[in-house]
Amino acid sequence: MVTEDFPVLVLGTHNAKKKREMALLLAAEGWELRSLADYPQSLEVEETGTTFAENARLKASVQARHLGVWVIGEDSGLEVDALDGRPGIFSARYSDPGATDERNNDKLLEELAGLPLEKRSARYVCHIALSDAEGNILAEVERNCRGRILFERSGHHGFGYDPLFEIVEYHQTFGQLSDTVKSCLSHRARAMRAFVREISRLLPERKPPKEAITSNLTTFRFG
Ligand code: IMP
Repeated sequence: MVTEDFPVLVLGTHNAKKKREMALLLAAEGWELRSLADYPQSLEVEETGTTFAENARLKASVQARHLGVWVIGEDSGLEVDALDGRPGIFSARYSDPGATDERNNDKLLEELAGLPLEKRSARYVCHIALSDAEGNILAEVERNCRGRILFERSGHHGFGYDPLFEIVEYHQTFGQLSDTVKSCLSHRARAMRAFVREISRLLPERKPPKEAITSNLTTFRFG
């Protein structure tokens, strides 16, 4: 349901690195953004879905109803062909329930041990859903980014599996490529661009005027 006033969009993630990537991608399009850091009463939404889409919708609609604002839910992860799509929706907790990026990457290398490069193809997937304050999903998109899993880590940019995930055309991992390059090529960047097109269609006349960045790190308004 479109409200009379231009709605503030809240990025429904507690992951600081994802939040940063998404804030940069959306702010460049002129939307007023907030993050969960602006809402101390925000929830930790349990990911009980069986697909990226279900989890993104859950994160958006549960948080939106709770906070009474429009929320963007995002769910993403890594699908490795040789592992029949694992770790998939379990990417964040692949090695164990309290997983770290370090342990997840170790487990991935162990599971792929002995496989030659041509059998290490993989893709990152990102699903984004927008919920209004009543929990209705107004827009959603899913995009991916293909690459392959190298034999050892390279680079320190990005997060998660980035040091192992090579973009074949660049001969470099997302750990080596700059944030600027990742913000053009990644699953999240592709999904965000498509998402911005979707919400611009949804609220064509409500795009805010271009303004300078005036605010703190978690609240942006510029275009
Ligand atoms: P989520 O918070 O449940 O969506 O989990 C996402 C998980 O997928 C992260 O913790 C990472 O392990 C992985 N992931 C998603 N996007 C990226 C990315 O851009 N780079 C590296 N790992 C990612």
